Order: sequence, then structure tokens, then C-alpha cells
Amino acid sequence: MKDVSGSVVVIMVPLPAQGHLNQLLELAHLVASYGIPVHYVGSASHNRQAKVRFHVLASSLTSNICFHDFPTPPFLSPTPNPNSPNKFPSHLQPAFDATASLRGPVASLVRSLSLESRRVIVVHDSMMASVVQDTASVPKTENYVFHSVSAFALYWYTLEATGRTLPQKEHVDITELFLSKGSPSLLDVFTDEFLKFMASQHEFLKFSSGSIYNTCRVVEGRYVDLFASVTANGTMTKHWAIGPFNPLKLPEKESRRSAHVCMEWLDKQAPSSVIYVSFGTTTALSDQQIREIAIGLERSGQKFIWVLREADKADIFSGGGEARKIELPQGFEETVETRDLGVVVRDWAPQLEILGHPATGGFLSHCGWNSCMESISMGVPILAWPMHSDQPRNAVLIAQVLKIGLIVKDCMSQNKVVKSPAIQGAMKALMASEQGNETRKRAVKLGAAVRGSMDEGGVSRAELDSFIAHISR
Ligand SMILES: *[C@@H]1O[C@H](CO)[C@@H](O)[C@H](O)[C@H]1NC(C)=O
Ligand SMILES: *[C@@H]1O[C@H](CO)[C@@H](O)[C@H](O)[C@H]1NC(C)=O
Repeated sequence: MKDVSGSVVVIMVPLPAQGHLNQLLELAHLVASYGIPVHYVGSASHNRQAKVRFHVLASSLTSNICFHDFPTPPFLSPTPNPNSPNKFPSHLQPAFDATASLRGPVASLVRSLSLESRRVIVVHDSMMASVVQDTASVPKTENYVFHSVSAFALYWYTLEATGRTLPQKEHVDITELFLSKGSPSLLDVFTDEFLKFMASQHEFLKFSSGSIYNTCRVVEGRYVDLFASVTANGTMTKHWAIGPFNPLKLPEKESRRSAHVCMEWLDKQAPSSVIYVSFGTTTALSDQQIREIAIGLERSGQKFIWVLREADKADIFSGGGEARKIELPQGFEETVETRDLGVVVRDWAPQLEILGHPATGGFLSHCGWNSCMESISMGVPILAWPMHSDQPRNAVLIAQVLKIGLIVKDCMSQNKVVKSPAIQGAMKALMASEQGNETRKRAVKLGAAVRGSMDEGGVSRAELDSFIAHISR
């Protein structure tokens, strides 16, 4: 019988960066589909960012999701530095630091909801543990940590941090391959500032009652278990791998969200003939690197859609600062158009729809985890060009463990421009070689298995049901 004193509510507390905002909004959508009210909190501009870029139009977002715009002090929103030796988006740090001011409003919201609810569930990004430090002690409230990166990367970080080594087989299969590619250290892929920010979250993770992953056991169940085993401590014993969070069934052509020009162009291309090129929302490439990519793409002769956007600023809606006009080599766009070789997209691209299109046969990607999960679930093999954070580890998972992708030669050495022949070669390897075809076959197969995991009786569906049953027990 329903408890008359109210029901269960869930609060989502994301880190304000696109890949994180998006994943928790996807999870909000999944949880709300069970009829559970969800509250999504953040600054006004980050909530707006999450909504305008969501795959479902904000107007059709279920009314079960309530957005709370909390005031944050003004924070700097500098332009990204495309020539920085470290590719980590340090220009987002002011927004991360400003989240400290959410602590009070989040605690107040949780207290007021706990008065009228049977249970309050706080799902927070692992990087927002300090913001929710007061909530676990509120009556009827439980905190759960959301991991926005692969379990493989998490496991690897833990081993590195604790000086432990991988089990023998993994050691041989993975570490040496990775090391031979010039494994970037944590200092190479983060900034000092961000490592400190992460470390400052750590002590508050002890308030967590469990972990949620945007991953799927079909993809990396082994690493979910391994990570769980090295972190198992006291009460923190529950782990749910309930990804992919992104939708698995795409809208029919007629009801696509966007009549984006690149979708119309894709409709005219042969199956699996196009590579989608995007380095995500946090990568700012130098002019020289962009030139090399342009030459490499053109010389490869492979069809492509290239999303050429500057990295997000801390506040994507703020004016101010000279917007960078990204220049392509002279004549490039004309040549590409004349030869019908590809499309350059300078606005927001419908990534999931592109990946789900039958003409798309590869993804040249920075290997942000969100992009990896989208590509995996659409059965598209990845040409990995990791930039920072968890991305180099994700690339190893994709290429060496799952064997559903290839790594661009020379891309692991930080602070070096990858030259056009390496890009051209990588394009050919994935899009026009037997090895590429084998890689694509494995990606297609894994994609089908991952989509099946969210069906009735599938493993991710079962974990999602188990999470929902646990919080509404
Ligand atoms: C594990 O639990 C013990 C005792 O509660 C605590 O002292 C220790 O810091 C915990 N370790 C981790 C990694 O959380
Ligand atoms: C790869 O597969 C495609 C489609 O099945 C085929 O047309 C092409 O010849 C194959 N390429 C190689 C090098 O095997």
C-alpha cells in the first residue's frame, strides 16, 4: 500500500560540464520514467545548457523533472586556450569552484523535501561530493555517487593511486600496450588545480550508500566488479551499472528533432561509408592541429562529417571575449563540397542521430565517456584520439580490451601536433581496410548486445530495475 506520508524523490547534482550535465539529465529521464519525481539542481546557466542540448526538446521533457536554478556567485568564463600544452579544459575551473556555493541551497532543498517524502535520494557526480556533504545526515536521506567515466578508467586510477598492479593477464594485455604508447600520467591529463579539486571530494564519498555507473556489464562488467572489489568498504557496497543512459531507439526520420543539413547529406551516402569527426565540448585544438586534420581528412578520400566547434566556456551563454573564428586551409571547404567528400558542422550537431544513421561507419573521437557510450550503443567503431582526463584510459578500453576501435598513431604524446599522414593513415585503417572491417563487425555486434541489455530481461534493465526497487523499497 502507498505510504500516505509521501513517496520517494530523487535529486540530481551534476558537475557543470556538458558530458556530466547530460549524463545526469539522461539518468533523471530514466528515473522519471518510473513515475518518480526528480529534482535537478545547478546554476541557472548550467540548467539551461543541460536543457537546450538535451536530445528531447525541453518542452517535451517530462513534468516529473523539476529544475532548480540556484544562485552562484559570478564566475569567470574565459575563452579556452587552444595552444595550452596541457589539454585539460582548465578554463572551466571557475565554474567547478563556484559549485561550492550550491552546498547551502542543496541542503535546504533536501531538508524541505525530507519533511514531505518517504525517502530522499541524492545522486551526485563523484566530483560534487563536497557539495552534498550535509545531506546524508538529513533524516530519510541517502546519497549515491554517480561515476561519469568508465569503470575501466576508475579501476585504473585506483590501482595507480594505491600502487597496486593489474592482475597478470590484464598487465600483459593492457598496461604494456598502453605504456608502449607513452602512457600519459595523471599530471599530464589533469591540471594541479583539478587534481586538488578531485582530492577535496574524496573524504565526502564516505557518506555514499552506493555507486551508479553509466556503463553496461556487457561492455565492462569485469571492470565494474574489479573496481567494486577495490573500493568495497563498510556500507559502500552497492553498485549499479545501468547504462547506456542515452536513448537506444532513435526517432524516425519524420520526427527527428532536427532537420540538420548533415542528416540530409547522410541520407544520400552508402552504408557505413562516413566517419563522424568530433572532439567533444572540452577540446580546443590549435590552428596548426586543425590544419593537419583538414589535410589528413581530405587526402584520405573518406567521407566525413566534421564538427568544428570551439570548446565550451564555463558559461556557454556569456558573451564577452572575442569568439575564435576557426580557420580552415584556404579552399578546403570548396574542395570538400565539390568532391562531395564531407560536411563541416560549426553548430551543435545531433551526435546520437548521426551515430545511429546507417551511413555512419566510424567515429573519430576524443573518447569522452559519453561519446564512447553513444558510439558503442549505436554499434559504431571508434578511431581514438584521446585528449585529457579519463580519455586515454577509455581509448585503451576501446582499442585494446574491446577491440572495437583503433588508436590514432602518435596521439598519446601530449603537447605534440599529430601530423596529417598519421590522420590519413588512421582514417584508411578504420574506413578502408580489412582490419577496419573486422573492428566494425565487433562494434556492430557489441552495439546489438548493449541495446539488448536495456530490453526486458537485459542486464542493464535488470540493474536499473534493481536500483529503482532499492530506492523505493
Ligand atoms: C575504509 O573504512 C575504514 C574504517 O571505516 C576507514 O578508516 C578507511 O578510511 C576507509 N577506506 C576508504 C578507502 O574509504
Ligand atoms: C570492407 O567491407 C566492405 C563492405 O562489406 C567491402 O565493400 C570492402 O571491400 C571491405 N574492405 C576490405 C579492405 O576488406
